[in-house]
This record gives sequence, C-alpha cells and structure tokens, in this order.
Amino acid sequence: MKDLSYRTPESYLEAKDYSLQNPESFWAEIAKNFEWYSPWNKVLKYDFLKPEIKWFLGGKLNITENCLDRHLITHPDQTAIIFEPNDPKDKAQYITYKELHSRVCQAANMLKANGAKKGDRICLYMPMVPELAIAVLACARIGAIHSAVFAGFSATALAARINDAECSIVLTADGGYRGNKTTPLKEITDEALAHCTSVKRTIVLQHTGLKVQWNKMDLWWHDEIAKVNDDCAAEIMDSEDPLFILYTSGSTGKPKGMVHTCGGYMVYTAYSFQNVFQYQKGDVYWCTADIGWITGHSYIVYGPLAVGATTLMFEGVPSYPDFGRFWEVCAKHKVNQFYTAPTAIRALQKHPVTLVDKHDLSSLKVLGSVGEPINEEAWHWYDDHVGKNNCPIVDTWWQTETGGILISSLAGVTPQKPTYATLPMPGIQAVLLDNEGNEIESSAEGILAIKYPWPSIARTIWGDHERYKNVYFSAYPGYYFPGDGALRDGDGNYRITGRVDDVVIVSGHNLGTAPIENALNEHQLVVESAVVGFPHDVKGNALHAFVITNAAIDNPDILVAELRELVAKTIGPIAKPDRIQVVSGLPKTRSGKIMRRILRKLAAREYDNLGDVSTLLNPEVIEEIKQNS
Ligand code: PRX
Repeated sequence: MKDLSYRTPESYLEAKDYSLQNPESFWAEIAKNFEWYSPWNKVLKYDFLKPEIKWFLGGKLNITENCLDRHLITHPDQTAIIFEPNDPKDKAQYITYKELHSRVCQAANMLKANGAKKGDRICLYMPMVPELAIAVLACARIGAIHSAVFAGFSATALAARINDAECSIVLTADGGYRGNKTTPLKEITDEALAHCTSVKRTIVLQHTGLKVQWNKMDLWWHDEIAKVNDDCAAEIMDSEDPLFILYTSGSTGKPKGMVHTCGGYMVYTAYSFQNVFQYQKGDVYWCTADIGWITGHSYIVYGPLAVGATTLMFEGVPSYPDFGRFWEVCAKHKVNQFYTAPTAIRALQKHPVTLVDKHDLSSLKVLGSVGEPINEEAWHWYDDHVGKNNCPIVDTWWQTETGGILISSLAGVTPQKPTYATLPMPGIQAVLLDNEGNEIESSAEGILAIKYPWPSIARTIWGDHERYKNVYFSAYPGYYFPGDGALRDGDGNYRITGRVDDVVIVSGHNLGTAPIENALNEHQLVVESAVVGFPHDVKGNALHAFVITNAAIDNPDILVAELRELVAKTIGPIAKPDRIQVVSGLPKTRSGKIMRRILRKLAAREYDNLGDVSTLLNPEVIEEIKQNS
C-alpha cells in the first residue's frame, strides 16, 4: 500500500489546501489506496440538518481484506500483533499477518457455525488478549456488527448494551487479568444474561482458568474453533454497511450506541494513524488503551492493521508489578511509537523517575496522548523523562463519535505546543462558535464545532436517529457539535478546555452524570441526587455526588459505602464518586432546575466564585453545603 502520510511540512500544507479546495477529490485520492471489490460511484452525500452522511457510495469492500489479505502478498511473515501479557513472567506472543489471517478466518467460521450472519450483532466482553482483536476482525470478516463492551463494565451495564443492540451471540472469557486482580468475566456475563432474551449462544475463551458455571447455551471457544477450518471468504460489504456499534455516555441514563460504517471508517483510521504517528515500515507501535474503547478499535486494531503495521496489545496495567511496567515493555519490544492517556502519565509521574530511567527507551520516536486535556506538568514530564526531549508529542483530540483523530500535530512534521492538540488534520474543517452559533475568527475561546463531514463520523445512534440529530446537529444547525469547548491561539492551534455538557472525563473515561444519578436514586434512602465533576490531580476530574435522603442518616459512612457499591454494580467501578455528600437540598432555580454550575463551583471549593445566588429558590442550602463539605 502507498504511504498515506505527509512527511514534510510542505506536503502537509499542500494537502491541507487541497482538502479545503476539493474535499471530495482529496478523500477520493486517499480512498484509492485501499482494496475495493468495486469502486464508489459518488464520494459524499451529506446533509447536516437531516442529518444524513454517506461516504464512498456504492463502493464494495471488506475491511479485513485491507487489514489482512493484502498484506499476505507483501509481508506475510511480519508480526502483526505483539501480545504482552499481564504478568511479565508469562511469555509474549508474536502473531504474524499470516497467522492472524488464519486465526481470524477460523474464528469467523466459528461464528458462522453458530448461526452468525451479516448484520447480526455480536457482543464482545473480553479481556485484552489477541482473541479480542481476532473476534473484532472475525465479525468484520462475515459482516456481523461487533459491539465491544469494556470488560470493566458491570453486569447491569453489559445487559443494557446487549439488549439495546439485541445481540445474538456473546463472546467472553472465563476471566481477565488486571494487575493482581482477576475479573470473573463469565460470571458477570451470566448475571447480565439473566436479563437478556436476544442471546442464543455464549462462546467462552479459557484464559485464566477461573472456575465457571456452565449453562445450556454456553460453548468453549477452543471446542468450537477445533471444529472449523481457516478458509473463509470475506463478506462483500457496502461502504455504508455498519461495521460496529460502540456505546458512549450521554446526558441521559441510556448509553448511545454509536454506529460506524465500513468504508469511511477504514479510510480515515488508516489515514490518521499513518499521519499522526508518522509510522514507518518496521516500526513497533503501542497504544495502551483497551479495545473496549474507541481508541483501541481505531488505533490498536483497524488503523494499524490497515497500513500493515506491528501493533502491541497489553493485558496489564501500568502499576503491575511496579510503576515502571510501561517502560519495561517499551524497552523489551523496542517500541517506536507510544500512545497513552494523561491520567496514566500523571499517575506514573508521582513515582521515582528511576523507574523510567532504568529502562532503555532509546527506541522511542513518537509519544502520544489521548482522552482528556494534558496539563502542562504532565506534558513536560512525558517530554523530559520518557521522550528525553527527543520525541515529538502528539496530543490527539477526538471522540467515540468521530471514529478517528481530528485535531493533532503530525509527529515531527507540524509544530507541537504543550497542552494544545494544535491543528485540525488535513480534511477536517474545525471552527469555534460563540453561544449564538456564530463562527468566531482568530484567537478566541468558544465552542468547538466541525463544519464539513469526514469519512469516519458516526452515522447514527443505534435505534435512535432522532437522538443523534438532537445531540450532535441541533444545538448549532449546520455543524457537528462534539460537546467540547476550546481555545484557539493566533496560529490556529486548538486547546481543548473540556466538556460543555453533562459528561465528565474521569481518568480519560467518558462518564455521563445522569446514569450515575439514576444509580444513586435507586437506593431506598435517596430521593434526589446531582453529580458533578471537580478537578483531580491524577484523574483529571473526579466525581462529587450530592444526595438528598428521605430520613435522617445516623451513619453516613455506611450509606456512602452502599452508594459507591451501587454505582459500581450498576455502571462499573470507574464511575464510583470520590465524594458523596448528604445534603438537605440542592441549589435550584425558581423553576426547579438544579444549578449545576453552582454545584461544580462548590465541589471545586471555589467559594468566592459562586456568582449571584440570591435568585435561587433555596439560597440557604449553599451555606449548608459549604459547612459540611
Ligand atoms: O472531551 C473530549 C475528551 O474526550 C472526549 C471523548 O471521549 P471518548 O468518546 O471516550 O473518546 C476518548 C478517546 C478518543 C472528548 O469529547 N478528549 C479526547 N481527547 C482529548 C480530549 N480532551 C482534550 N484533549 C484531548 N486530546
């Protein structure tokens, strides 16, 4: 495949100009570098008001032909996936393109033998092992729509996602490792499936050896895979056929199943991967995300494999067996591009720098950051100690909804600026809006919006196109509204300032406050609750829950423990509030709306900055909240 990246500032600028003058030809030129069974007859059809977005209309392809088969001609014996297990004492695995192709085809046949067909939804609730990447690709091979659910989600959250997509098969494992903990994934799946009727089969990978209960529809992965061969022709997919659903939090309790389609997603993830990271043949690239999140989909599996790269998968955590593990893995596998989240950097920064220095990091060429704003201190620590001031840092802004990186520098090609994601990628038309929806020119702060489609934008919310329209296209008609605020400097660089809606990014995880409030309200003593984010030195943000109870509480510690457990059970441990405060009332407007702006200030203990509270329905609660916070 042709190298898709701009390697010099001149070629970057040229591409950028061209993408603005001739956006359709720009994308068509890039899309030509992929394998299509038949070409598209129209590059783009879109209407942001409707909204409707279609790319490469009429084009036929299978993304796995592009991620696997075509590399068999050029580099079958190159390692496609390096797997580094949770425990450093266990052996790493090196899976070549040839072997990956064979294992994907076999897994695809296993799915087919169990009734899966094009368009079916298959839930993946799996640990970070090669079989997860294989499962993703096996679904894509046969045109089934994968819906991966992060293995840290609870049974209730898993059931909600399975039911929303009406999945017919669940792929899971007996358990998964995370540091010194083992998560009983099959047990959680069983608990979830008690509330799901659509699932006909559960296929279980044996990984930890954890004892599991066996039900009528359960099958062992190794038994099923032994029954099939590795000959599986790829299903011919339309460019606009769904490839996967991935759930993300929203402002209501129900998660949004973002739908990504085959053609555009393939083109954009490959294009952005190669450009942002400046990947070169033979490099070893490592993204530390989990495949249960969009970062793992786009930049562990699809983007890297589409360009024939070597991508590393890691099952463990940065703190196990010690806080030097990331650097040990970088040294062991001679990683060239390393991509992680600011929250991990902040956690590691708290430990002696000798844990970094004792590992040979000379292979590193590019560092990346994703998921939340990176603060100045973390940026410099990353630059000084990991990159030794010798590796460009790409701060990549994007979302589950955008499918790929939209704003980032291109490593070593375009300038970086600490704490700034910098410039939109060629092909991305970002703007800043004021509250009335007018575009603001030059340096300013405002609401980030995108005014022209790009190939990997999510096409809808599964089963709820109206919600897709309301959330992303209604606030500022004619634009895609991502829900983030941003600052722009005189050179056009963007710095993302954070969410402007009720989503809080905690340790890089996108959490809606509404589902957490719903969980808290389930407790028999809670009548009302409000959850807001407050700044946290490691997690970026943490959650503060204000709860009103229906009776006096003798022992708040017990209630707080029960509430935290309830949130963990309903959503997952990542959503547990750091602080839970019992209050007699919440600040409300006269029309009864909770004043979240004030709660955010109270949670951040910015008491001097509360603004005018005299118009509240109940200003007296402010003092009370301050007193017992
Ligand atoms: O607020 C932005 C923040 O993460 C949100 C998207 O979260 P999610 O869909 O879970 O995807 C995370 C991985 C792409 C965004 O709306 N965000 C993501 N990247 C950055 C960021 N905030 C600041 N800087 C970033 N580089």
